[in-house]
Amino acid sequence: MPNQREKFGSRLGFILAAAGSAVGIGNLVGFPVNAAKSGGAAFLLVYAFFIVVICLPVMMAEMSLGRHTQRNPLGAYNSVSGGNPLWKIGGWLALITPFMIAVFYQVLTVWLLAYFVGAVSGNLAQMADPAFFGTFINGPSVFGYLAVLTVVIGFVLNSGVQNGIERLAKALMPTLFVMLIILTIFVLTLPNALVGVKYYLIPDLSKINPEVVSNALGQAFFSLSLGMGILITYGSYVSRKESIAGGAKMVALVDTSVAFFAGLLILPAIFVFNPATDTSELSSSSVSLVFTFLPKIFLSLQSLIGYVGASAFAATFFLLVFFAALTSQVSILQVPLSAFQDELKFSRVKSVLSLGACAILLVLACTVSFGMVTYFTEFTSYGGATKSFFDIVIDVFYDTILPLNGLIICLFAIFHWKKANLNAELAIGDDKFEGSFTQKYVNGALGTVIPLVLLLVFVNTVCIKFFGFSLTDYM
Ligand code: PFF
Repeated sequence: MPNQREKFGSRLGFILAAAGSAVGIGNLVGFPVNAAKSGGAAFLLVYAFFIVVICLPVMMAEMSLGRHTQRNPLGAYNSVSGGNPLWKIGGWLALITPFMIAVFYQVLTVWLLAYFVGAVSGNLAQMADPAFFGTFINGPSVFGYLAVLTVVIGFVLNSGVQNGIERLAKALMPTLFVMLIILTIFVLTLPNALVGVKYYLIPDLSKINPEVVSNALGQAFFSLSLGMGILITYGSYVSRKESIAGGAKMVALVDTSVAFFAGLLILPAIFVFNPATDTSELSSSSVSLVFTFLPKIFLSLQSLIGYVGASAFAATFFLLVFFAALTSQVSILQVPLSAFQDELKFSRVKSVLSLGACAILLVLACTVSFGMVTYFTEFTSYGGATKSFFDIVIDVFYDTILPLNGLIICLFAIFHWKKANLNAELAIGDDKFEGSFTQKYVNGALGTVIPLVLLLVFVNTVCIKFFGFSLTDYM
């Protein structure tokens, strides 16, 4: 029975669990990399604008739909639309997208686990060598870490919402945040850090272009876990005593703060360790940036706390980031998992096993996409570049489909489910919602400006990524 669904134990539990899902590799790796490659402060500005103006209302719509229907995304779209086949596409997309995102996420989580083990075993100095990352991701040890991680995730998923996700998130999130701040302060005291701070905080508006806008929107959606049905599913576990609008704002604030500090850590570090960095070189930044600079930052801590102390600090940090990634990964997988349970009536164990079986081949294809197997490394080419299997998953699901899913949810909430129902759901557990600015903005923008912006960015992203031109080339 839908009404007997498990519920988050408390308001704090819900916020921390949603924040635990939101804070992950996107904040700690994706955000600094995107900020570095997309013009620093220019990116930050566009990103912050999208979070407040576009993402927050979408987040509220997703959570409301979930709490109202008490279902996973597929079930939620179905039950509100009465099985209308057109809207079912939205449900399917909100199911396939998190599945594919979980696939590439698994690859990065494996690297974090390996970096934790590397720091514990005294290899910090080797890890700080720029060549280490490339050699490691193409070495046989990744498969061992992958096997361990797959078992851990299966175990956490199997232990249920409250025991698994909520407990992990409650304990670890605050510690991670404190360590991030300590590290940031340390880096800011190092010579030349100020150049990076300026690059990160003083916007050069001429750097804002369609690609920066597209990157910022994709990153904002990904970071807040939007467009993936995760918040529909989480909404279905939120008690009717909670304010959805208040919870959404808190989650966005926590998530954006973590991303902001991760940027304030990594960007100055680039200039500390490579004082000759020319900002134009940064446009080709990739995830290797974070995996190379973090060990360098930790290694330089040895002047204060010695090699063992620096290694211990690094190990703790990688462990916490690994847990942040794990809570995110578990929550992403929760979406297809609830669909297996609710729609196919599979038991939890059977759902976990079926999901794992579907995912593992795709994860392996991504893992060998960095040079190990040429077929997957040079899988295809489009938009004027050769793309690996891993690149395709990122281009299609992270950069392109997320804003599309956001667009569909806006249209669905406003034009099919209807404003009045959305408002009624948002007012449950929140006496101050009626007549508030939030209500007016959500009502006004969710059916107008927001879908329009999402549509434009979606079309333009398709043009940039797959056809190698931008709409603005013709303006
Ligand atoms: N928001 C997470 C991050 O920034 O790493 C990733 C994520 C978690 C995406 C949960 C999607 C999701 F359903």
